[in-house]
Order: sequence, then structure tokens, then C-alpha cells
Amino acid sequence: MRFIKIKYGFAYIVILLTLITFLISFNFIPTGFEHRTIIESKSPQSATVTETKRIFFMKTHKCASSTVQNILMRFGHMENLDFLLPNMNNYIGNPIHFNTSMISNNYSTEDGKFDMFVHHTRYSQEIKSVMRPGTIYVTILREPTALFQSLYSFYHFDKKYKCNLTQFISDRLSNKSSANQIKRYSNKLGINQMNWDLGMDTDDFVNTDKINEHINMIERDFDFVMIFEYLDASLVLFAHLMQWPLEQMAYLPLNTRNNTYKQILSNYDINRLIQVNMADNMLYTRFIQKFKKMINEYGIEKLKKGIKSLMAINQKILETCVQSVANKGYARTTSYKLKANTKTMCKYIAMNELKYTSHLREIQYERQKKYKALDKLMNNN
Ligand SMILES: *[C@@H]1O[C@H](CO)[C@@H](O)[C@H](O)[C@H]1NC(C)=O
Ligand SMILES: *[C@@H]1O[C@H](CO)[C@@H](O)[C@H](O)[C@H]1NC(C)=O
Ligand SMILES: *[C@@H]1O[C@H](CO)[C@@H](O)[C@H](O)[C@H]1NC(C)=O
Ligand SMILES: *[C@@H]1O[C@H](CO)[C@@H](O)[C@H](O)[C@H]1NC(C)=O
Ligand SMILES: *[C@@H]1O[C@H](CO)[C@@H](O)[C@H](O)[C@H]1NC(C)=O
Repeated sequence: MRFIKIKYGFAYIVILLTLITFLISFNFIPTGFEHRTIIESKSPQSATVTETKRIFFMKTHKCASSTVQNILMRFGHMENLDFLLPNMNNYIGNPIHFNTSMISNNYSTEDGKFDMFVHHTRYSQEIKSVMRPGTIYVTILREPTALFQSLYSFYHFDKKYKCNLTQFISDRLSNKSSANQIKRYSNKLGINQMNWDLGMDTDDFVNTDKINEHINMIERDFDFVMIFEYLDASLVLFAHLMQWPLEQMAYLPLNTRNNTYKQILSNYDINRLIQVNMADNMLYTRFIQKFKKMINEYGIEKLKKGIKSLMAINQKILETCVQSVANKGYARTTSYKLKANTKTMCKYIAMNELKYTSHLREIQYERQKKYKALDKLMNNN
């Protein structure tokens, strides 16, 4: 009798454990996020079964998006994912909205679809047709007046418009409807930059209904929206969403500058900037609310612990990889001199966007060439 009881007890434990494993692996045990799509596992010989996830990252201008992009490029690179890459430089479209004719044959894939799209573009729902199933849509937003100031100084609007920002505000931005008519610098840079990048038409910038409609669309299409001002918090939450270890979010700030370039603006000027960037303000306000909701669900104390860990991870990388920091990048952005004989990871974490993009192009070109040669062989009898 006793023997049978023990035997049944053991069987119960086995059944219970199997059930729990099953529930966790199929995500029936919720962890606070929606949209968690599991994609097929990696190559058969990989020992650890980690999840690979696909990402479309809408790279907004002057929102720390180069730093986030580097994290994603490293992930996709190490996992051998297929990137949708620009033919040259770092833009795929913008000012023109993304369309499929922008995809280069040299870096395309057999099914014409991709796992990763992390370069500058102008959002269009056509993007959904080229991303493989299960893609997570991500972007990052910034407080709009700070963003506009950064845009103005980084791209040297002062040279283009022949005046400093204060003057620009009083001459060109004092009238909201005419402000909307200012030709965008380089046909793509100007007021309401985030909504522009996210595909909105300039004519709609003064129409509250249209703005709300557009923001609703963004809210529907995007799974996760980071906030520049809370970058580390955003990355901790993102790691949680992707079920990535926090180490995957390690970064060295890229394409950033120190504050010495900031012009001090009067309250009047700040208010002007707020008014002409109304569409971006509405966008930012909406997603700050969502961000707060996400933090509440995740737990503020847990988030703070995550930030602490991420900061320690980044500090360790700085000590391991970097010899010295300078301001020698484009527009005096931060640049890193690496220590001699550092790890491969150091090379990529400090690599600027253009160089890393070229590297990814080479890899992908070679891969596609081999695939195409093989197909040719098999199709020639
Ligand atoms: C698609 O992009 C190409 C540039 O690659 C452009 O010439 C064409 O006009 C675009 N098509 C549409 C419908 O916007
Ligand atoms: C594609 O590759 C070919 C052969 O290397 C090259 O001549 C061509 O310029 C490339 N095209 C683009 C758009 O990169
Ligand atoms: C901006 O330009 C105006 C007019 O030239 C000048 O009076 C003002 O001092 C400048 N402001 C700054 C911060 O350079
Ligand atoms: C503002 O600009 C619009 C369009 O250019 C113009 O019709 C209107 O008279 C201007 N308003 C003021 C107060 O200057
Ligand atoms: C900011 O950048 C300027 C220009 O490169 C440099 O002289 C200054 O030392 C930097 N300040 C800090 C705090 O890094």
C-alpha cells in the first residue's frame, strides 16, 4: 500500500512539472506583456534554445536611436538574421515613404522578406508586407522641444537658414500656419520630426483630428515605444518584452554630444516650439502615458533594480573596451578609442552606424551570392 502511495506521489510530481513546463513554454503563464510572439528556434546545432525575434525599429531622428540601433544590429548580426539594408549610406526612403521598390537585389532574400529593419526610413504600412511573421514593431520618442533644439544644432540649421535658433523662432515660427509651410531641411528635417518620420503628412500637422488618427494608427502598429529621457528604463522593459538577457542591452552611447551646444531659450521661445510641434507633443504625451502604465505593470522597484544592473554592465564594458573617449565623430559626437586586443564585442559596440551597416552589407551580399549560385546549380540540369 505504502509503496503504491509513494509511486503515485512521484507520478503526481512528474505530471505537475510537465504541466508547468508546458504552460511556461507556450506562454500561458502571463508575464505582463501582450504581443509576445515566439519565432522558430535557431539553427538545429545550437545548444541553447533561445528565442529569436524579429524587429522593425523605426529610427526616429535625434532620439538616441543610433544607440538602440547598434544594440539591434549586434543582435541580428550575431544571430545571422536577414536585414533589410539601404543600398548605400543609412537611409531607405525619407522623404519618400518606404516602398518595396527601395529594396536592393544585392541584399534581398529569396522570399523577399526580412527579420530586421533598423535603418532610417519614413514609416508606411507597406513595411508590414516585407517583415517576416512575428515581427515586433518598436520606436523611440523624445520630448519635442528638446528634440527640435538638437535637430537645429546637429544638422546646422543655422547655416541653412542663416540665423540662430532664437532668431529662427521669432522670424519663422511665430505664425503656426506659416511655420507649417517652411520647406524641410534636406527635404526631411523640420518641425514635428517624429510624426514626419512616422509617416504623417505635413498638411495634417495643424489638424487635431488627423493627428489623433495618426497617433491611433501608430499605437495599433507598434508593440513597444521607448522614451529617450528614460533610455535605461526603456531598455530594461524591452529586454523583458523580448525575453533577452539584460546583457543583450549593453551599450556605449553613440552619435551623442555633450550639453555645451545647448542654447538657453526663454519661456516664450519654448512655448513657441511647443505650439508649432503640436503633433509631436500629442504623440509624446500619449506614449508617456503608455510608458507609465507599462512601468506600473512591471513594477517600479524591479525596474530600478534592472537599471542598476544595466548601468553596471555598461560600466564594465566601458572599462573592458575603451581606452579613451573623445568628441571626434560627426558634429563632434562621442567617439571611442578602443584598448588594444579587445574582444570582438568591443569592436561592434563602439562602431558607428555607417561602418557597421557596410559590414552587414558585405555579410549579407556574400550569403545571398552563395545561395544564388547554389540555386543556379540546382536549376541547370
Ligand atoms: C517608390 O520608391 C521609388 C524610389 O525607390 C520611387 O521612385 C517611387 O515613386 C515610389 N513609389 C511610390 C508609389 O511612392
Ligand atoms: C550590386 O552588386 C553589383 C556587383 O557587385 C554592383 O556592381 C552594384 O553596384 C551593386 N548595386 C547596389 C545597388 O549596391
Ligand atoms: C542670436 O542672434 C541674434 C541676432 O543676431 C543675437 O542678438 C543673439 O544674441 C543670438 N543669440 C545667441 C544665443 O547666440
Ligand atoms: C499666418 O500665416 C498665414 C498663412 O501664411 C496667413 O494667412 C496669416 O495671415 C498669418 N497670420 C498672422 C497673424 O501673421
Ligand atoms: C564637451 O565637448 C567640448 C567640445 O569637444 C569639449 O571641449 C568639452 O570638454 C566637453 N565637455 C565635457 C563635459 O565632456
